[in-house]
Amino acid sequence: MRTVLVTGAAGFIGSNFVRHVLQTHPDWRVVVLDKLTYAGNLANLADIERQYGAADQGTRATHDTFRYRFVRGDICDRQLVNSLFSGAYSTRHPSPPTHHPLKIDVVVNFAAESHVDRSILDASAFIETNIKGTQVLLEAARQYPVDRFVQISTDEVYGALGEEGVFTEGSPLKPNSPYAASKTAADVLCSAYHKTYGVPVVITRSSNNYGPYQFPEKLVPLMIRNALVGKELPVYGEGKQVRDWLYVEDNCRAIDMVLQRGRTGEVYNIGGDCEKRNIEIVCLICEMLASELKERNEAKDLKRLITYIKDPRGAAHDFRYALGCAKLQTELGWKPKVGLKEGMIGTVRWYLKNQDWVENVITGDYQDYYEKVYGVR
Ligand code: NAD
Ligand code: TYD
Repeated sequence: MRTVLVTGAAGFIGSNFVRHVLQTHPDWRVVVLDKLTYAGNLANLADIERQYGAADQGTRATHDTFRYRFVRGDICDRQLVNSLFSGAYSTRHPSPPTHHPLKIDVVVNFAAESHVDRSILDASAFIETNIKGTQVLLEAARQYPVDRFVQISTDEVYGALGEEGVFTEGSPLKPNSPYAASKTAADVLCSAYHKTYGVPVVITRSSNNYGPYQFPEKLVPLMIRNALVGKELPVYGEGKQVRDWLYVEDNCRAIDMVLQRGRTGEVYNIGGDCEKRNIEIVCLICEMLASELKERNEAKDLKRLITYIKDPRGAAHDFRYALGCAKLQTELGWKPKVGLKEGMIGTVRWYLKNQDWVENVITGDYQDYYEKVYGVR
């Protein structure tokens, strides 16, 4: 059994990745470490807990065969992280009980504060989790060696493009927002731990993901929810910025390949080859929602909700991202499988079916946050 420690897996991409791994690799087990911040939700992992959880260990799964275990904790908590890597976790944490040390073979670090707008309001948590937390994990991997340490990074480390060109893995790092700066610092630390101590780090940098379980503060789920409740659709500035959209399952497949076959010390870009302006995405969502809701709504009525607002990101709003992914394609044979229409209609349907999930993850904190970024609307 290969044991994979997945941090931040109660969030959007991490929960999709755990589902992908458990379905694809019957001989892998997953240990999740997640602090459950506002963005982390156990509901994202509920089906996994039911299917693969260790709760009924003893009847269905013995220690040697269990597939999934959740640990609530902070990647900045050195003691907890070291106890997980050293195998001492079972003795110090009786619940859930484990009777043998767990050997971590692979680390995939998704845990992060992930939203640009929040980083502009207050960068502190970004520095703690994204930089210090990554260093705690790297240090543990140095002391208790692992086969592979996959750092999940972002195209935002490269900064902004104009209308032309793409970022390759060799492009200079020129982050603009505090979020992007904190991810850049983590990437640089990862490279330094590889060079200095030989920690087997591989870095993935992906473009904008969309799909099920994304917290409704990011563009796609926020627009779907607002349209459903008849609220305005707030487009920053003129909506002309360009993002490269990647369906989350394609990203999970790419990360899995990099984990298994990527060269240590290397960076792999993961992009969807799907550049769209923000306003095009918002219009597409309106059209798809209208076609799903049929007589209840027409696309033109939903589009009337579009409201152009003063850009809350100001100069930190990157105009365009686009990723060259030739390295991943030629070395590992990956390319995206899910096109925008297929991925977005699947996403819209998922949010329509899971409106309870959306309303449950939105708490008082979300309302406060919304007022700070969008004003009282
Ligand atoms: P998310 O915000 O949905 O989830 C983050 C998860 O990390 C949550 O479950 C949260 O509880 C957990 N977490 C936060 N601080 C923690 C801490 N100190 N200790 C343990 N857990 C902690 O994020 P996401 O969109 O799933 O992104 C995952 C990763 O992918 C991030 O590293 C992000 O930078 C990167 N990324 C995301 C995108 C995107 O489009 N969403 C694109 C490129 C890269
Ligand atoms: P977002 O989903 O926050 O991802 P990122 O900042 O990582 O690219 O935003 C995507 C784009 O959509 C970005 O250019 C900002 C814009 N945007 C809006 O216009 N309105 C919104 O309400 C949000 C959340 C984002």
